[in-house]
Amino acid sequence: MKTATPSRADIKIGPTRLLINGEWQDAASGKTFETINPATEQVIARVAEADQPDADRAVAAARRAFDGPWRKMSGSERGRLLYKLADLLEAHRQDLAALETLDNGKPYNDALNVDLPLTIACYRYYAGWADKIQGKTIPINGPYFCYTRHEPVGVCAQIIPWNFPLLMQAWKFGPALAAGNTVVLKVAEQTPLTALRVGALAMEAGFPPGVINILTGFGPTAGGALARHMDVDKVAFTGSTEVGHEILKAAAESNLKRVTLELGGKSPNIVFADTDLEPAVEGAFFGLFFNQGQCCCAGSRLFVEDKIHDEFVDQVVARTKKQRVGDPFAPDTTQGPQVDRTQFDKVMAYIAAGRKDGAKLRVGGGRVGQQGYFIEPTVFSDVRDDMQIARDEIFGPVLSVMRFRTIDEVVQRANATRYGLAAAVWTRDITKAHAVANGVRAGTVWVNCYDVFDAAAPFGGFKESGIGRELGEYGLNNYTEVKTVTIRI
Ligand code: NAI
Ligand code: MG
Repeated sequence: MKTATPSRADIKIGPTRLLINGEWQDAASGKTFETINPATEQVIARVAEADQPDADRAVAAARRAFDGPWRKMSGSERGRLLYKLADLLEAHRQDLAALETLDNGKPYNDALNVDLPLTIACYRYYAGWADKIQGKTIPINGPYFCYTRHEPVGVCAQIIPWNFPLLMQAWKFGPALAAGNTVVLKVAEQTPLTALRVGALAMEAGFPPGVINILTGFGPTAGGALARHMDVDKVAFTGSTEVGHEILKAAAESNLKRVTLELGGKSPNIVFADTDLEPAVEGAFFGLFFNQGQCCCAGSRLFVEDKIHDEFVDQVVARTKKQRVGDPFAPDTTQGPQVDRTQFDKVMAYIAAGRKDGAKLRVGGGRVGQQGYFIEPTVFSDVRDDMQIARDEIFGPVLSVMRFRTIDEVVQRANATRYGLAAAVWTRDITKAHAVANGVRAGTVWVNCYDVFDAAAPFGGFKESGIGRELGEYGLNNYTEVKTVTIRI
């Protein structure tokens, strides 16, 4: 759907300070840092740079709120606040989408028509759960009445990345607040702006001070302070597998806070010869190139059955050539810049590695323009499983295509990775679909579709792609502690 493009001069910037205890506060150090527009490389604004003292203040505020008004509020009242926040997000969806595009670089049409609806739906989904979180009565032996309560975990630190800033905030806030926890969110340093705006809307909705706290700042400092904090009951992290290891270590070395992790991936997208070609080509393209390739579940290893391999790759290449790279606010743009210089350099280095290792560059491979972090959508064929571009998460618009012959072979190769986040299979044969769906070790399997997300469907990883699940009832369970009460009668 095409939408009227917002004028950049009209985009309201701010808030730019930390949200602690319901107030906008400077960092204790007084420090700020720049957030950059990745399409122009120009500074959008300076935001407060939180460090340990600010994390301490935010955690103390979250603890007071948890011990105070929030604990006493009924589930239906919490749900009402979440519904109200969702309504406010809906009313401000164009402003929020424009701010997301400015800070992240994703096409405005995607921000408005994908990120915002999913974000709003997530808050509404969990608003509905808030008064339906309940335990069981358990018939134990003896003259006892035994039941369970599903209580909030407490103060939750939540550390999110930059690829879907509004949506990741919703995945974190929704279940945590529905279950009665209080939160300290540490947003990604690349994309701090929309989370703060949501913080302002949450205050308008009427969340009590200290229930929602938002820190802008860097990973090792502000993020590390939360992961190590002795008064944080849980940390939920989305980001790189490397930092996931650090978070788990920090939890182990501090207070054994609960940890959920949603980490990287190298997801196989498997195409059998009997598939309907057109949707499979679109699925192969979209599964990798959506969001500039910056998706943890990107279908970055495309396995194509030998019999249709050459024709299929030609069609994927032709589809890729139709991608329109450029100004993310232009209505016909389908691919914006990578989020920052670091990511741009990382992706370009992988393209160089693919060439050096002898993969066949079929389209793309270069930078687009001289300003902004734009990269040509890139397809390599004849990729071997041991090449770097087949093993590492590239997190950019680079597709690696491999050839396969049998089901057993492709399942074994799909699983030969430390990751296990998602997988997809394209076939008209239900037997093959089941063989792959049951055989791959991944948290999500899509059959004849890709990137189908719903707030009700759990998402998360096997192996080094993570611990725990987000979304749905499973996601909610990761924000409650079970208490067993036994009464003698
Ligand atoms: P990252 O894992 O360093 O950053 C994600 C979040 O963690 C940010 O808020 C960051 O400030 C924070 N963080 C970083 N170091 C931390 C630490 N020691 N303690 C606590 N928090 C910390 O990811 P980055 O550097 O932005 O991207 C590197 C790679 O990670 C990407 O190229 C991509 O492969 C992967 N990634 C995966 C994502 C996913 O959705 N699973 C999202 C973003 C990146
Ligand atoms: Mg990092």
